[in-house]
Amino acid sequence: MATILVPGGAGFIGSHTVIALVNAGYDVVIFDNFSNSKPTVLERLKKILGKNIPFVCGDIRNREQIENVFEQYKIDGVINFAGLKAVGESVKKPLEYYDNNVHGARTLLQVMREYQCHNFIFSSSATVYGEPDSVPLTESSPVKRANSPYGQTKIDIEYMCQELQIAAPEFSMVLLRYFNPVGAHESGLIGEDPKGIPNNLMPYLCQVAVGRLPHLNVFGNDYPTPDGTCVRDYIHVVDLAEGHVAALKHCLNVPGVHIYNLGTGIGYSVLDMVKAFSKAMGRELPYKIAPRRAGDVVQCYADPALAKKELGWSAKKNLDQMAADSYNWQKNNPNGYDD
Ligand code: NAD
Ligand code: WQD
Repeated sequence: MATILVPGGAGFIGSHTVIALVNAGYDVVIFDNFSNSKPTVLERLKKILGKNIPFVCGDIRNREQIENVFEQYKIDGVINFAGLKAVGESVKKPLEYYDNNVHGARTLLQVMREYQCHNFIFSSSATVYGEPDSVPLTESSPVKRANSPYGQTKIDIEYMCQELQIAAPEFSMVLLRYFNPVGAHESGLIGEDPKGIPNNLMPYLCQVAVGRLPHLNVFGNDYPTPDGTCVRDYIHVVDLAEGHVAALKHCLNVPGVHIYNLGTGIGYSVLDMVKAFSKAMGRELPYKIAPRRAGDVVQCYADPALAKKELGWSAKKNLDQMAADSYNWQKNNPNGYDD
């Protein structure tokens, strides 16, 4: 079976995808610099999978470190999760985001070309669509100038992949545009563990639920939506992980550029999520209505038909399962991996 290198494999989505890959019979090598994760994740993966997963500590910007991996292992494909992902932070630190995300991805691709490894799957984002003209979003919806340096790094890397594929037609480039990944593995052993105060809704809800934060601030309830709060396409991270396996099965050694939206196709509001989380907790989650957050789009959700048609993949888990699994992770790990 193919051997897949997973840069960023100790992170939230990467660790869940490692489980899906191993369960699907792939051999996996995790590559991570622990800039936003901890070695504890590797121990948790061993508990879940019943075996050690080969791991190399390194930085995707370090060409020699990546070359050493390709010397040590016969790598058939790469799924690149490694990247900085905080929208607000990217506005303050654009050069760091371009260096880490774009330079890092470029270095990965340079080494892949050097070692004739032509299968690349990239963690892109619905953020490339900017403020949608209409929803649901298809893969043909216009890619717009991003509203943050973070989002622009995603657009730039997508273009870099497409330009390389033109120059080197043997490449299979898969661009997976994630919507809003949430949830956690059913074991409660791995999950999202952001540093500092969470920017994203679900980890913030989790920390309110375990008493680390007093209440949720709902950023605006005067939007043109059914309940006035913004609408998003939340997708369970386990479904997202399975989407990578489906993409690998379909696209491995199939030259071309393959773009897929990975979402449920269902838009839920902030208050829908609060309600689902309160149900998971068995009590009302405290929240207050706060001013709108700059940069928020009103509605963003996918048309996932292409992934269903070509990959045979669709999301299976509903909002209640997303909330319950997120809460289960945080309840078992009130301080994340620092416990
Ligand atoms: P995460 O921060 O949990 O995981 C990223 C991992 O990459 C971490 O383990 C980090 O240590 C590692 N890493 C970062 N820079 C690195 C480098 N230079 N060299 C080696 N390792 C490095 O993030 P996540 O939520 O799992 O997201 C994974 C990918 O998916 C990111 O590229 C992100 O932009 C993208 N994405 C995430 C979301 C989301 O809402 N979580 C949505 C769309 C796209
Ligand atoms: C969801 C909704 C907020 C926090 C971001 C990135 C995107 C991608 C996914 C990387 C919004 C509301 C949130 C809070 C709130 N990441 N909210 N109170 O903004 O859709 O997307 O994460 O690729 O690039 O932009 O996700 O979870 O931050 O917000 O009311 O404390 O929850 O206003 O409507 P978002 P989010």
